[in-house]
Amino acid sequence: MSEKSFYLSTPIYYVNDAPHIGHAYTTVAGDVLTRWHRQRGESVWFLTGTDEHGQKVLNTAEKNGVAPQDWCDKLVEDAWKPVWKALNIANDDFIRTTEPRHMERVQRFLSGLKEQGHIYSGKYEGPYCIGCEEFKLPGDLLEGGLCPIHSKPCETVSEENWFFRLSAFVPALIEHYKKNPTACEPASARNEVVAFLEGEVQDLSISRSTFDWGIPVPWDTKQVIYVWFDALLNYATAVGLGDEAGSVGAEMFAKTWPADVHLVGKDILRFHAVIWPAMLMAAGLPLPKKVFAHGWLLVGGEKMSKSKLTGIAPSDITDHFGVDAFRYYFLRAIPFGSDGSFSWEDMSARYTSELANDFGNLASRLIAMIEKYCDGVIPALAKDAALESALAETVAKADASMVALDFQGGINAIMEFCKRVNGYVTEREPWIVAKDESRKAELNEILYNTADSIRALAVLLHPVMPATCETLWAALGMQSSIAEQKISDVATWAQIPTGSRVTKGAVLFPRLEDPVAK
Ligand code: MSP
Repeated sequence: MSEKSFYLSTPIYYVNDAPHIGHAYTTVAGDVLTRWHRQRGESVWFLTGTDEHGQKVLNTAEKNGVAPQDWCDKLVEDAWKPVWKALNIANDDFIRTTEPRHMERVQRFLSGLKEQGHIYSGKYEGPYCIGCEEFKLPGDLLEGGLCPIHSKPCETVSEENWFFRLSAFVPALIEHYKKNPTACEPASARNEVVAFLEGEVQDLSISRSTFDWGIPVPWDTKQVIYVWFDALLNYATAVGLGDEAGSVGAEMFAKTWPADVHLVGKDILRFHAVIWPAMLMAAGLPLPKKVFAHGWLLVGGEKMSKSKLTGIAPSDITDHFGVDAFRYYFLRAIPFGSDGSFSWEDMSARYTSELANDFGNLASRLIAMIEKYCDGVIPALAKDAALESALAETVAKADASMVALDFQGGINAIMEFCKRVNGYVTEREPWIVAKDESRKAELNEILYNTADSIRALAVLLHPVMPATCETLWAALGMQSSIAEQKISDVATWAQIPTGSRVTKGAVLFPRLEDPVAK
């Protein structure tokens, strides 16, 4: 069988509105991590998509006077896919829960669980938050019965439904997290999940009978499958869940399952770390290796959201700072797993000091000096033991951090090396050395070492800022493809070929006209 792929998913997003920067935060993190793994030479599968059934999407479509399928089609094509394209997201697949490939596999999976005795009929009565699409426990709610996430009242549901025997899997789930601490991260998320499991977990209603925007329960078509039960399965239906042995789907499933990382926001942790693994256990399937819950982007101290009118569109930021600065900023500024506030001032400050000054200027100064002192041609190979060992350390540190989803630690390590190279140039003063013809060899050595360091920086930053690093790669005169450069080879010194012709391209990070306008 072919090599198992590193399989990463984002949540599938509700299509009741266009994406905001909270959604983009998860998707960019997934894109950076999968690009990093690709550059480690691994086979990778990166899935994202949209969650289209349920009351929330139905209500929005109705409010807009459009049939739900038309609403979803329009939003997916006009809003979601274009935003991911604009942000340079290199997903391998995009799943929509209204696609037949998903709906058929969900129905087959549910029938399988019923045959195995994991499904029974019963009555559900209790609070339901349409914003979360979640049956709430009275203890989850704020005073006045408000949902703590949406600050809105829940509706009271009283229906005959089909139930999944979630409670039967609690002991096995507790055991799973005790044995595999990395299966749910960060530790705070795992503790929350284990505490929840150690409380009173109830069986889950997995169907709804009061509206029909969903996948019909195969043996009771007056009911539709509960939207979360339908949605969670996307991670497996997209890669061929339950397909016949020998089929393309079965082969894909063998190559990808279990998923390596499900990236989620902390608000949807329980669904992913309790309900989803229980569904998989019931079907006798292996569990995902890791569910990682990141924090929220906050505005005014609260989770940024469209429903609270605090949603910021990615283009509001990228129009000003560019796509790559957007991709860089959130992962660099906020420890992955913690909440973080967004501020224009902080983003402007980092853009100017880290991207424009430390990185962009270093590259443009080097290219200008090679043009001026070497007729635009990379001089003879040279070495600097201190830079070389700093680079080896940087690569090891960055790689360990990135694969552990510590994006901030990984980017910091790379930017520290960038500072180090700036320090090298300042210390060696090539502009002074250039004045003395007898020091030509020394000048060449400084310029070569700086150029090769920038070559390494371009590769290491490529997963975070692909377009900028591709521009820089071309400006350095590199003929190979940057995406094919392996992380494990970055620290090998002297890869930039002598004789390559550099070109002064566009400025990588243009000066901001008005840094804190908005
Ligand atoms: N449809 C479900 C997920 C189903 S996955 C099987 C859903 N969709 S969502 O569109 O409401 O949210 C998707 C993701 O966006 C969640 O991980 C959520 O945490 C994230 N974010 C939404 N607002 C956010 C912030 N303000 N900050 C960071 N992430 C946020 O839930």
